Formats: sequence, C-alpha cells, structure tokens
Amino acid sequence: MAHYRSVGAIPQKRHTQHRDADGRLYYEELMGEEGFSSDSSLLYHRGVPSALVDSQVWELADQSRTPNHPLKARHLKLHELVTDPCPVEGRRLVLGNNDVRIGYVVTGTEPSLLYRNAIGDECVYVESGSGTVESVFGVVPYAEGDYVVIPRATTHRWVPAEQSRLYPIEANSHVHPPKRYLSRFGQFLEHAPYCERDLHGPTELLLVEGDNVDVLVKHRTSTGIVGTRMTYATHPFDVVGWDGCLYPYTFNIADFMPITGKIHQPPPVHQVFEGWNFVICNFLPRKVDYHELAIPVPYYHSNVDSDEVMFYVGGDYEARKGSGINIGSISLHPGGYAHGPQPAAIEASLGADYFDESAVMVDTFAPLDLGEGGLAAEDSAYAWTWAR
Ligand SMILES: [Fe+2]
Repeated sequence: MAHYRSVGAIPQKRHTQHRDADGRLYYEELMGEEGFSSDSSLLYHRGVPSALVDSQVWELADQSRTPNHPLKARHLKLHELVTDPCPVEGRRLVLGNNDVRIGYVVTGTEPSLLYRNAIGDECVYVESGSGTVESVFGVVPYAEGDYVVIPRATTHRWVPAEQSRLYPIEANSHVHPPKRYLSRFGQFLEHAPYCERDLHGPTELLLVEGDNVDVLVKHRTSTGIVGTRMTYATHPFDVVGWDGCLYPYTFNIADFMPITGKIHQPPPVHQVFEGWNFVICNFLPRKVDYHELAIPVPYYHSNVDSDEVMFYVGGDYEARKGSGINIGSISLHPGGYAHGPQPAAIEASLGADYFDESAVMVDTFAPLDLGEGGLAAEDSAYAWTWAR
C-alpha cells in the first residue's frame, strides 16, 4: 500500500514526545515491512505493546495437506462443508502449498478472539454476509464481494453482523496490487481496472479497556505452521493515533472495471492482487468479445507453470456448463495438462455478447495440495467430464 493515511492524534514530528492530557507519554510502535525498507505505519499506544504476561500453545485446526497425486482436475463443493462458526478458528484448509493457503468458513455472529497472522498477509474474500473487522488501526466494515486485506501481524478480530461465508487466502508473503498497475511512485495508472478511490481503510479508531487479553498468533517453526496464544497485560486496541501506508483495507469486487476486447482477453487483464508465487484475479459480469467470429469462452490452455483455482461466486459460469460446477464450487486445474470449456459450452457461447458470471481465481506457481476441507468437499467425477 502506497496510500498514506492518518487517523487520530499523532505528534507533528515522528519519534518525538506524544502525551495524553495528564502528561503521560504514549508508546510509539513502528510496524513495517522488509526490515525498515518498505511500507510502514507508526502507531501510538496507551499501553506497552510488548507487555506479555503469558504464552501458551494454541492448537490450530487440521493443517495437513495431501498431494494432488495421481494428477487430475478437482471439483470441490464448498457449500457442502460444515465448519465451526468462529471466523478464525473455524477455517478449514481447502488447498495449500508453501506460498499460500486457501480456507473456507461459514461464520456465526459471535466475534472471533483477537488474532494475528505472523506468517503473511491475509486476503479474505467475503462470499456473503457483512460485519466489521476491528484492529489496532480501527474499524473496517465488510460486505459481500469485499476482499479484506489484512497486513501480516495486524492484531484484529472479525465481528460478523450476520452469517458470513469467508474465503481466506493466507499468504506467506505480502499481498498487493500488481506492480504494472502502479507508477514508479505507487499511484494507480490509467490502465488499471481500479484505483485508490476503491480501497477503503479505517477512518475511526477503536479504543478498548482491558487486561490479561488473549491474542491468537499463527506463525511458523521448523515443524511447520503452528499457533500460540499470547496474553497481554493490557488490551492491544489502545491506539490513539497512527499514520502511514500500512493498514487493513477492503476492495469490493463490484468496483473492478473489467477490461474486454474484440477477441478473448487472457486472465492477466482480470488480475486484482499478487503475492509471492501467486496471483489473484476475478472474472465479473461483462460485455464479451465483439469480433463477428469470436468464440467468447476461453480456448483450451495449458498453464505449464501454474495451478489454477476458480471459486464460482455468482451468475452462471459459461465455460463450465455441463461440468456439475455451481455457485460455491471450486475447480482446481493443475499445471501439467490442458483444460478449457466442456465441449458443448463452446458452440453454446457463440453470439453471446454478455456473460453474467463472477469468479475469484488464485493461480499459484507451485503445485497445490488438498487440505482436509478440500478432500471432504470433493466431487470425484469432475475430472472425467470433458470425455463424457
Ligand atoms: Fe483456466
């Protein structure tokens, strides 16, 4: 994020005295990426941000992964997954590799405990529902169609106002707009399908009193991904002001302006974000190819360097007609073999001028394994539907 924000009370100069009405100093914290060499924010706390009083093991949900072997396309029906209702602890692992993990959770209306992911940024797609994400930076509302981007190590909690279907994309890196959308100083360029106006960060602070407050921390050791329950002497939501370029924000899928063409446009025009070794794209309702002989659905493609994960979230996905895929489905088309439309969908698409379809795609540049949630949701007949 290169878009500066300032919320609450901050001193005129950084790293100078900042006091409350009784003359007590606030505690300044720099939260920054890449070792003081990339984006950061400065936060001013009432309490000491490192005042821990306990640290215990937090047992994570099953993080096991099963290789996609023998290799085949997969169809995972996420709406058949039953999850615990906690927006954080209820997440079931659907797909993952050493760069990114995709989960799924159907929440209730109870807030999560305070939580932070110390492994990487989270980009949580809101399939349905609404509520808020509270954090040390303040409150961000969320609604259906939002990507909620939460920087690594941001202490936060989910507060659903209603049942919410969440699709967390948990990176081992940072998640940001593609570099090619940005000027060399970080402003969105004219050809980008969205811009700064579409990104919504916190506008108000959130101050909470409390002591002996638990925070669930997801992190890594040499044994893999683990959890720790850290207990703080005072409530972490004690920030009276902050400024900088690092903070949680939302971007709604409806604010993405699809780029279309006379003939079929490839997925990179639909890109939203990127992380290390993966990208996030979305396919949205749009006018389609207007050449008189155009074939609107995609050609068969062998993405030799990537596994492709499509999450079908709205409309009627033209290229998948006849495959059994529906809203709430995931298709995994792994690298190493070609995929494309079910054959009948090609003729059926000719002459179409509009597709009413919405899907969120994650392309990874390393093979994906199946999580326990993915295995539990599989429609094992999918791989053979092109040959029927
Ligand atoms: Fe594809």
